[in-house]
Amino acid sequence: MGDLHVKETGSASYKDLFAEISQEADILVLTGDLTDLGKPKEAELLADDLRSCSIPVVAVLGNHDYECGHVDEVKDIVKGAGVQILEGQAVEINGVGFAGVKGFAGGFGRYMLGSFGEPAIKAMVAESVEETMRLENALRQVRSERAMVVLHYAPIVETVAGEPPEIFPFLGSSRLAETIDRFPVTAVVHGHAHRGTYEGRTPGGAPVYNVASHIEKPTGKPYALLDL
Ligand SMILES: [Fe+2]
Ligand SMILES: [Fe+2]
Repeated sequence: MGDLHVKETGSASYKDLFAEISQEADILVLTGDLTDLGKPKEAELLADDLRSCSIPVVAVLGNHDYECGHVDEVKDIVKGAGVQILEGQAVEINGVGFAGVKGFAGGFGRYMLGSFGEPAIKAMVAESVEETMRLENALRQVRSERAMVVLHYAPIVETVAGEPPEIFPFLGSSRLAETIDRFPVTAVVHGHAHRGTYEGRTPGGAPVYNVASHIEKPTGKPYALLDL
């Protein structure tokens, strides 16, 4: 599940949902935008809700978790609640390797933003390439036969379809899919595109799921259930 966007007002609690997921699944994977504005107070509310989660939790951060400039504090609070945050590392749980990175924008296919012109554009492309290299390093660490890639940004255009086409390039980058396809990956999950599409595939055939909580899923719930 992704894009919880926990707010300081505490308007929505995830306690019951986390308890339900703990009954349904073996591992909970959170695909970023854990908080709405990246405020430590929001992270504390999430950490509190996570007390009702009795299964292992792995997560990546999202762009919203960076908004207030307190990302290290947010990370520490969420880690304190037992969540394993992946930023270019892999972790093995119950025989499944989870390789995670936030990812970045940049666009898709032949329309990806290229490193040309102003330094600001080049910096943006460099960030996208760097996140991709972090994912590559994470995938190299996976030793298990089954591997799940955890992202915030989308690696393919199919799962952002439904969003305004004008913003597609800000929702993800095909560079992520190019890296994924060089490794045996069982499934990919991401969030960020709240109005996107649940399911797609990388050009190499790896199944991709947009699990943002807003997306309609086969479960009819805010979370997806994936069998690896
Ligand atoms: Fe989001
Ligand atoms: Fe996001």
